[in-house]
Amino acid sequence: MKTIQVVAVRVSEAACLVVDESDVLSAAELSKAERFRKREDRWRFMIGRASLRALIGERLCVEPDSLEFGANAHGKLHLLSNPDASLWFNTSHSGEWVLHALGDGGPLGIDIEQVKSSMRSLEDFRMVFSKPESDRLRRVSPADRPQQVALAWARKEAYVKAIGEGLNRSMRDISIEPGPDGRPVLAYDRNPPTLRQDWSIRDVPVADGHAASVVWSGGALDVDVREWEMGIGAQGLTVSEAAAHA
Ligand SMILES: CC(C)(COP(=O)(O)OP(=O)(O)OC[C@H]1O[C@@H](n2cnc3c(N)ncnc32)[C@H](O)[C@@H]1OP(=O)(O)O)[C@@H](O)C(=O)NCCC(=O)NCCS
Repeated sequence: MKTIQVVAVRVSEAACLVVDESDVLSAAELSKAERFRKREDRWRFMIGRASLRALIGERLCVEPDSLEFGANAHGKLHLLSNPDASLWFNTSHSGEWVLHALGDGGPLGIDIEQVKSSMRSLEDFRMVFSKPESDRLRRVSPADRPQQVALAWARKEAYVKAIGEGLNRSMRDISIEPGPDGRPVLAYDRNPPTLRQDWSIRDVPVADGHAASVVWSGGALDVDVREWEMGIGAQGLTVSEAAAHA
């Protein structure tokens, strides 16, 4: 695969019913799902795990329910037994969408954020944004600021998810800013150095009211973004491209 594949799956009650019917989730995943108090959080988790299983299962030609996931010390998932050692993946969910990124070039991370009107104020983001990021976001008009704050946040979270440390990495010591061509680049990361240094950052076009970004290591690649939907076929859970793109 010479591209990063980004798959968007819409979160809905209907999709959750498909997941229920498919019986694809493990006992541990079902037990985690039951612990969510909010129905939408449960749906996002169940749809995320089921569609991830279906996508990886399809790629590796194995049954989705046979996949076993492990996690690093900070919660990043990997396959316990991976016949394709070059497969990398990551997931994010927010609002009405689950996003998955799959690639074979190196570690990657993806993040989607629902845009909220409260993001007009930078007050809550003092621990998140670097000085250059805050200065830039302060110059954005109040009307456009929530979208830009959500996007800046998604870029940074995708980056710390690509590394695999999540929010254990100090966010305000990381700065992602527009490069000469307008595309985001890692200006600096003053946390302890990571094994990989060649991070690429690309914003992902998603539905109105959301902002998303994907980060990967391993040089320039195309990013292919499509909306997929789940269904039940003779072999169980299926994923196929939806009629309209996200
Ligand atoms: C990673 C993190 C930033 C994600 O935050 P979020 O906005 O709530 O979640 P998102 O929807 O973007 O992503 C969730 C997905 O990220 C993945 N994920 C979890 N931890 C991750 C990490 N450290 N790095 C990369 N991806 C991670 C999982 O696949 C998860 O999907 P799941 O719900 O199916 O398990 C946050 O959970 C974090 O910082 N975690 C680290 C905390 C930690 O160290 N915990 C230790 C005990 S596990």
